[in-house]
Amino acid sequence: MPHKFSNGIYTRSAEETISLGMKFSGTLAKKDVVVLEGALGGGKTTFIKGVVKGLNIKTKVLSPSFTLVRQYGKAEFCLYHIDLYRLKEDEIFNIGIEDFLYSKDAVTMIEWGEKIEDCIPSYIKIVFSLLDNNVRKIDFSLKGYKNRKIKL
Ligand SMILES: Nc1ncnc2c1ncn2[C@@H]1O[C@H](COP(=O)(O)OP(=O)(O)OP(=O)(O)O)[C@@H](O)[C@H]1O
Ligand SMILES: [Mg+2]
Repeated sequence: MPHKFSNGIYTRSAEETISLGMKFSGTLAKKDVVVLEGALGGGKTTFIKGVVKGLNIKTKVLSPSFTLVRQYGKAEFCLYHIDLYRLKEDEIFNIGIEDFLYSKDAVTMIEWGEKIEDCIPSYIKIVFSLLDNNVRKIDFSLKGYKNRKIKL
């Protein structure tokens, strides 16, 4: 299992990051927005795979770099997977991203989400650091929430 340290969690394989994502999915609620930040290959998409698995959504997770937004699950509860890698900060609100944020029946996870974090009121932030070939440090924090905890 992933190693827990006071300043983050270390995973040593993609599988460990998937299992961490599965665990994290238990803390998610409708209307949540999750910002995922970190270098190329940091493990953001891999982590989202675990979240989708943990939410019991049976859809393949693909990097949405070209489509920008993917929807997994059904209308009554779905996950929006957004990837802002290719967009410049001033282009993001032209794609109508607001339609995918704080939706009453969805959670939203945004790769390269730091590009919009200054424009959104509350979100869970996850930062991925690439330490070694297969080692990642994953830090969780809460922004703009009161009385909210992340249990892992
Ligand atoms: N501990 C680990 N956690 C996550 N992925 C790992 C780990 N060790 C190795 N990997 C590998 O690193 C790669 C992570 O790729 P992934 O697509 O998840 O990154 P990403 O952060 O989404 O990158 P991008 O910014 O390009 O979208 C995968 O090939 C995965 O197998
Ligand atoms: Mg990715």
